[in-house]
Amino acid sequence: MAAAKSRPKIPFWAMAGLSLMPIWAFMYVRALTEPPEVPEGPLGIGAAEFGSCAGCHGPGGEGSSAARQLSDGEVLLTFPNIEDQLRFVYFGSQEYQLAGVTEYGNPEREGGSHKTGSLGAMPGQGENANGSLTDADILAVVCHERYTISDADPTDEAFTEEFENWCSDESPVFEALEGGDATFADLHDAGIVDAEGNPIEMIPIGEEPVAGSPPDGP
Ligand code: HEC
Repeated sequence: MAAAKSRPKIPFWAMAGLSLMPIWAFMYVRALTEPPEVPEGPLGIGAAEFGSCAGCHGPGGEGSSAARQLSDGEVLLTFPNIEDQLRFVYFGSQEYQLAGVTEYGNPEREGGSHKTGSLGAMPGQGENANGSLTDADILAVVCHERYTISDADPTDEAFTEEFENWCSDESPVFEALEGGDATFADLHDAGIVDAEGNPIEMIPIGEEPVAGSPPDGP
């Protein structure tokens, strides 16, 4: 009895901490053994893919002396239609220059049209333009630029349909590209339908750069 009384007691607060130790140990081991989270959906994959663009465009797309600003709505002014931006990122401005397209995107954009090559050459990202991104990856990174970096609002009427069809987690266009059922070259004719089963109207992306598409869409 006397011995037990004289043994130094573990303070109450330390007991509380010690009793949680098995839980901490369990969580630590689990964190080490669980596979890292794989990004999913156009916006998740796009954020991961943007790493290869950030070196020139800046981590937040703020631009640099070597590449255009993509943030603050800038990329939406250049490309009112997502198809036009997909084509540009696929081919890069070098191919636009070779094809004789002197202005890319919307020639009537606020702040003046963007002259091809005026800030240097943007390397083509698509597999047939010396790039290494799949068509699905290009769609994902373009969605990231429009909806995350440039803050397009999917609840805004101007973007709701585009978001649902191209960039949401249920995007039928992304699904078709990712599953290999379509490529940019045949996307326009691939008979892809929206959530209600209606055909998705789209501007052809095609196999070569073309001059900018109009601000009002197809
Ligand atoms: C080697 C540097 C470099 C890399 C890497 C790069 N870009 Fe660019 N990007 C440029 C340059 C330079 C321009 C301007 C092109 C011009 O003036 O013709 C540009 C322009 C753009 C534009 C047009 C913006 C506008 O409003 O005019 C988009 C969109 C774009 N890049 C997306 C991307 C994406 C997506 C990636 C990654 C997959 C990427 N870029 C990687 C250099 C780069």
